[in-house]
Amino acid sequence: MNLDGQTCLVTGSSRGIGRGIALDLAERGANVVVNYRSSAAGAEALVGEIEDADGRAIAAQADVSQFEDVEAMREEVGAAFGEVDVLVNNAGITVDKKFEKMTREDWETVIDVNLGGVYNCTKVFYDDLREAEHGRLINISSVVGQQGNYGQANYAATKSGLFGFTRTLALEMAATGSTANCVAPGFVTTDMLDEVPKRVQEKILREIPLDRFATVEDITGIVSFVASEASSYMTGQVIGVNGGMEW
Ligand SMILES: NC(=O)c1ccc[n+]([C@@H]2O[C@H](COP(=O)([O-])OP(=O)(O)OC[C@H]3O[C@@H](n4cnc5c(N)ncnc54)[C@H](OP(=O)(O)O)[C@@H]3O)[C@@H](O)[C@H]2O)c1
Repeated sequence: MNLDGQTCLVTGSSRGIGRGIALDLAERGANVVVNYRSSAAGAEALVGEIEDADGRAIAAQADVSQFEDVEAMREEVGAAFGEVDVLVNNAGITVDKKFEKMTREDWETVIDVNLGGVYNCTKVFYDDLREAEHGRLINISSVVGQQGNYGQANYAATKSGLFGFTRTLALEMAATGSTANCVAPGFVTTDMLDEVPKRVQEKILREIPLDRFATVEDITGIVSFVASEASSYMTGQVIGVNGGMEW
């Protein structure tokens, strides 16, 4: 899975799964764009770590829910590396509440980042992906998009929405040999999972056949595989990485 010379943009890669994905792509030779919304220190630290290992990376601040921010990020990326070959739409948030308490604002906040951000980034980098030799659109969904989850109607709607979006883009991108796929992790030990109350975490754990939460590293190698030439004939797929919770 050599990614020498490929330019990969990972949204929301200052922390968590995105950070791990960016690091793994860089270790395989890619030029990496570390996008973040507010964690500048985390993003700069990751760029430093990649450069210390003789990799190439830049940090790029942009709130993916803001189209103008994403357009400005494209200018920065273009100046540093040229066109983007691989876009990993990873940035995502939760605002968890039972539906009876969920306000319109709770709904829209999550939709704006988890789906609006995917629209914005895919739109702005679409021509790059289609024209790249092995263009890759990789959307990070969730097992919650497959199963639903108590208190996450807004989040589950966004993560299911990515399935239809990805399959449609797979059809529309196919003519140039570029691909679109979803990676759908189960529950991964990051800040996002930390926000879930411990008693709920224990309940989830009982439902995971492999009997543990995923580490970030359980996800990153699979994303790098999808980013690589080795996955050239795979498109429109949902790749579950969930310890056996769903298939
Ligand atoms: N953790 C899980 O159990 C799990 C399971 C399945 C799927 N996922 C999905 O995996 C992805 C990453 O999750 P995670 O657990 O790594 O989350 P996390 O630890 O909360 O990190 C979220 C990342 O997204 C960035 N971000 C949030 N809103 C943004 C915005 N508007 N614009 C740009 N960046 C933004 C954050 O940047 P700042 O640091 O600047 O805020 C941070 O880098 C999400 O799409 C999530 O839905 C997670």
